[in-house]
Amino acid sequence: MQPVFYDPSLPYDKNFENGPVISHRPISVPRRRLTHTYPFLDFQLNTPFGIPAGPLLNSSFVEAAFLLGFDVVHYKTQRSDPFPVNEFPNVLSVEIPGQLTPKLAEKPLIGRPVTDSPARELSITNSFGNPSKGPDFWQADMKKALSYQGEGQLLIASVVGTIKKHFTPDDYYKDFALTALLARQAGAKVIEVNLSCPNVASEGVLCYSPEAVERIVRLTKEKIGDTHLLMKLGYFTADQEDLLTDIVKRSLPFISGIAAINTIAAPVIDEKGKQALPGKGRLKSGICGAGIREAGLDMIARLTRVRERLKAGFAIIGVGGVMSARDFLAYRARGADVVQSATGAMWNPDLGHEIWKELEEQHA
Ligand SMILES: Cc1cc2nc3c(=O)[nH]c(=O)nc-3n(C[C@H](O)[C@H](O)[C@H](O)COP(=O)(O)O)c2cc1C
Repeated sequence: MQPVFYDPSLPYDKNFENGPVISHRPISVPRRRLTHTYPFLDFQLNTPFGIPAGPLLNSSFVEAAFLLGFDVVHYKTQRSDPFPVNEFPNVLSVEIPGQLTPKLAEKPLIGRPVTDSPARELSITNSFGNPSKGPDFWQADMKKALSYQGEGQLLIASVVGTIKKHFTPDDYYKDFALTALLARQAGAKVIEVNLSCPNVASEGVLCYSPEAVERIVRLTKEKIGDTHLLMKLGYFTADQEDLLTDIVKRSLPFISGIAAINTIAAPVIDEKGKQALPGKGRLKSGICGAGIREAGLDMIARLTRVRERLKAGFAIIGVGGVMSARDFLAYRARGADVVQSATGAMWNPDLGHEIWKELEEQHA
């Protein structure tokens, strides 16, 4: 199988300029007869399935994804200022002995270039550093991407704050809100804050800090008004369920939904035992694909429990290791309203169609 959207053998900028791999041959779009729709926030979706923030770099990628029947997709995470991409390579395949847990992720994994026919049960690492061409470019391009939404399709904007010189933690949190406002001005009706980023107030990742999360979603919601706000979380273990409950409770007044999971960080080395991705701070990188499926499912079950316990109505987007219609159904069974696939969709143009067919059969 060839890559559909992003070609890992080429640098990020080449991918950005070339557009999705699939657009260089005639896209054969299987016909769908839509007999059902699926509610999500204020929208009715053709299928509750699509692609999360990442593989769709700009409007031409979004256009291809909608054509292929991925009905709810994210425009890759953007910033309030231009920001460079990490050094090439940015995507490697990794071998995972079974399913990845935070404990297993302490040990190095071996990374190799992804071959043209990756395993159906592929796991990869991706390391881009949330590059952005800056709002002068992406606001206009996001408008274009929004114009590609067909009936029953939805584009979600993903944003992140940028740590700038002399910034206080609060300045950093305000930058999330400012970037979200820029996405709203571009016309986005649903905006996601990517909280799997460094916490400048302490060591670690933002989404595990209740104060930081509450402050970011409060400031962001104040800026974007009636635009729907989603927050993207990483994986929380069983021991972190109380922490998760606290974070969700504090965020409830401001959010419409939660997306999870992002990647799980692990050290990645080459066959000689050296750091696989070049550059400072890149020994550890995010792992995604088949090997994080159980973690994703576990997290969605946890979020569903928290939602029931709090008698709350937020939407849940389940992400992580969805490679087939079976995986999609497993996420729905755990309580996900919408399911998305990054790694799976990157090599399987038919995944959206396969899931639509599965849903049709259920209704038959
Ligand atoms: C190529 C690639 C780029 C990604 N970029 C982003 C990003 O910009 N923002 C974000 O929130 N997540 C990003 N992710 C993470 C995905 O949204 C998703 O949470 C993760 O890959 C798990 O899903 P999967 O197992 O289906 O790949 C990226 C993933 C991939 C594969």
